[in-house]
Amino acid sequence: MINIVKTTPYSDQKMGTAGLRKKTAIAMQENYFENFMQSIFNTIPALDTKSFLIGGDGRYYNTIAIQKIIKIAIANGVKKLYIGQNGLVSTPAGSHILLKNHLDGGFVLSASHNPGGIDGDFGIKYANASGGQCQPDESAAIYEQTKIITEYKIAVCDDIDLSKLGTMTYENTEIEIIDPYQDYISLMKTIFDFKELKTLLTSNFKFVFDAMHGVTGPYAQKIFEDELGAPHGSILNANPLEDFGGLHPDPNLIYAKSLVDLMYSDNAPDFAAANDGDGDRNMILGNHFFVNPSDCLSILTDNYKLIPAYQKGIFGVAKSAATSSAVKRVAKALNIGFYEVPTGWKYFIHLMDSNRITFCGEESFGTGASHIREKDGIWATLFWLSIIAKTKKTVKEITLEHWQKYGRYYYLRNDYEAIPQDIADKLMADLEQKLPSLVGQTFAGYTISEAHPFIYNDPVDKSSTKNGLIVHFKDGSRIVYRLSGTGTSGATLRTYIERYVTDKLLEEPETMLKELSDVSRTISEVTKYTGKQKPDIIT
Ligand code: G1P
Ligand code: ZN
Repeated sequence: MINIVKTTPYSDQKMGTAGLRKKTAIAMQENYFENFMQSIFNTIPALDTKSFLIGGDGRYYNTIAIQKIIKIAIANGVKKLYIGQNGLVSTPAGSHILLKNHLDGGFVLSASHNPGGIDGDFGIKYANASGGQCQPDESAAIYEQTKIITEYKIAVCDDIDLSKLGTMTYENTEIEIIDPYQDYISLMKTIFDFKELKTLLTSNFKFVFDAMHGVTGPYAQKIFEDELGAPHGSILNANPLEDFGGLHPDPNLIYAKSLVDLMYSDNAPDFAAANDGDGDRNMILGNHFFVNPSDCLSILTDNYKLIPAYQKGIFGVAKSAATSSAVKRVAKALNIGFYEVPTGWKYFIHLMDSNRITFCGEESFGTGASHIREKDGIWATLFWLSIIAKTKKTVKEITLEHWQKYGRYYYLRNDYEAIPQDIADKLMADLEQKLPSLVGQTFAGYTISEAHPFIYNDPVDKSSTKNGLIVHFKDGSRIVYRLSGTGTSGATLRTYIERYVTDKLLEEPETMLKELSDVSRTISEVTKYTGKQKPDIIT
């Protein structure tokens, strides 16, 4: 039986950088999730010919929300649903499942690296047939629907048992519970030399992987322990938990602190990687060494020939504008295409689909390639291990040699959090206004050569997107300002600071960027607007 339920719109269902992300308690309001799902389906024609993937990172409320999607999909006459066993599918594996089965879309229930639980965050990433998250015009159409919705359709039936693999049919909808791991593992085997990696991981090379109680735990156990022979226990925090064990599943120096402490201790392993809640972000560490994500993209690109799948050559490389310029130099040296896009993985999709790029990355611990249309934490980990297996060098040696070859971009991101939205908007608007007048001015010895909004013209669909403001300095340094699109309380001003040097390669970023960080505050007048003397988070 199908129920048609009368509802009233919520005004706050606009998607951000990566889907809809809300405080869990907001998402649990009456009809909130149902409204959003029905609004998506309202924008998709001929649902009786369409198939979708459903999965998630295992966070709180996912099991309830997944049953709701299933019942709303049945009521809307969707042709087929592929559902990850126990409701689990990582964001990268989901992209692969979508592409491999030529699905029309997918729903990965995740607020990515944000904490989970009743006091944490909940989210939905909606992917389209490209295998990646929907484009801005699609999210705009869905947002319009959320503002006018008056009813949704939902099937009245028992909850579906997600624990057993198999196929069943409800009304006209076929439902298949799928293994979320196998296809992804097979894909990784087509890219990397598993035999060589097994030799490394069964040697005396010490490896750990921190899954942060997110969805990658079982993927990592199957790949690194079962397939590649790493000792049992190499995967830390391996079981997915609804509240991530109370941790903040963001693989960076602040939130993956216990892993960082281990890697800077006397008995540090040779290599560590961490992934976020849904498995698209990664952090790479060596013994007493941290790899900045911007450098990570640059190093992987420079070493592409070491990986079987890329030996015949790669197309170009792309980064978000906020990411450091390091990979630009590599692209030039390799004579491959280079693109700079707004923040958000969806902006890489057209470049991949049109064979303009193979690799891409963001400063926010995201690296990936065109095997899927999302960033991929396990792929990045396997790539690093492959470089180590081939070169027999440490993470630190590999990175240092890279800097000796190309120079080093010291890089920091300063975040000013929980700013009232109107104040943050005013700060950005005022800053944009005064950019032209800044050109030629000198602050603490740094002279501004150019200052403008970042505008991206997509070479494929010809759309134009404005995202943040960029200040260039004569010595090649840059400061980028933008507001976060993933927060769930107030606004976050992100300030991205970089400085290029060819000497002094082993200094601390805080030391090398002290003046520029001060300059970034002088220019934005963040203290005047927010009262904040310093950033809340520095990564
Ligand atoms: C943040 C990151 C961005 C990333 C996104 C989703 O978005 O900065 O690079 O694509 O999370 O993981 P933001 O909050 O800055 O809009
Ligand atoms: Zn994520």
